[in-house]
Amino acid sequence: MIKYLGSKRALIGWITGVVQRVHAHAPIRTVVDLFSGSARVAHALKAQGYFVHANDYATYAYVLAQALVEADRDDYPPECIQPILETLMQLPPVRGWFTETYCEQARYFRPENGARIEAIREAIETYHDPLLRAILLTSLMLAADKVDSTTGLQMAYLKQWAPRAHTPLNLQSPPLLKGAGKAHHADALELASALEADLFYLDPPYNQHSYLGNYHVWETLVRWDKPETYGVACKRVDVQQRRSPFNQRTQAHQAMAQLISVIRAPHLLVSFNNEGYLSREDLESLLCEWGYVACFERPYKRYVGALIGIHNPRGEKVGQVSHTHNREMLFLATQHKAVWEAFCGG
Ligand SMILES: C[S@@+](CC[C@H](N)C(=O)[O-])C[C@H]1O[C@@H](n2cnc3c(N)ncnc32)[C@H](O)[C@@H]1O
Repeated sequence: MIKYLGSKRALIGWITGVVQRVHAHAPIRTVVDLFSGSARVAHALKAQGYFVHANDYATYAYVLAQALVEADRDDYPPECIQPILETLMQLPPVRGWFTETYCEQARYFRPENGARIEAIREAIETYHDPLLRAILLTSLMLAADKVDSTTGLQMAYLKQWAPRAHTPLNLQSPPLLKGAGKAHHADALELASALEADLFYLDPPYNQHSYLGNYHVWETLVRWDKPETYGVACKRVDVQQRRSPFNQRTQAHQAMAQLISVIRAPHLLVSFNNEGYLSREDLESLLCEWGYVACFERPYKRYVGALIGIHNPRGEKVGQVSHTHNREMLFLATQHKAVWEAFCGG
């Protein structure tokens, strides 16, 4: 999976474990992940046999969800995908807008990899089956992520090339799963009331860090729209307009309250941490209106950029971070008292 700020990579077992424990007391068939991001959590839940709806408003995240959640491996087996990837890998490099913008003006990839990414992306335009196209784009994003020269965020690139940036790009089949699922590309606040499930999982942005701004290269790679860009980081200008209320201190509480109020499910699981716009008390009081609430906490290593240091948009180190761990929180709200008692030993 791609490097992703707030990704639940190291917390997957914790999150899916809570879902499994709920399932042991009140059977769960369908789960909605309204902020699916890298699609890690949705993918892990699908792997456990649930029917998963995965949604995100970023286009690249929607594509990841199409491949990793909606596509059925039986319809797109490796023996069908692998030969296409091998053909794409043989394409001669193309130095065009993508290479100029992200490898020369900015330096997210070495130009030799950028020009291969560009040739492969251009060829993917000729595939019209939406899920096959999403699988190929996912393979390209996963491969490009392995040879990038960032700390995991595209708000800056490293001053010196990262060692991995010298590795040749290598496409591999994404980890598709058998069975059905559904990807959505919507604002969570608009989609939530249209869906009904046994459990909703909410993992919204916690603070001002905008995902579209931090992963603008993936957005452009997927949209392939040669957008107007600005600044040293060459961000798409539209990341300034497509803002999420969860990234605004003044709107986050109201957005969360509105979202929770329209959820139709017996169980709700919410991820948050202690560095976000909402405190544990804020979330508990919102969720108490909705059901019986239990909160679990654990220490968590902050994102890799924080561990390496603070960088300016040119990738130069300009400061040290004050701490390397925070507290990750998981709130379970349930309308079944027996489920709550099973967690709280009541
Ligand atoms: C904390 S991340 C989710 C991380 C994900 N659970 C993972 O493990 O990769 C939050 C996600 O919410 C998405 N997002 C922000 N505002 C949104 C909105 N209003 N509707 C839908 N998605 C939104 C962002 O694009 C981002 O991918």
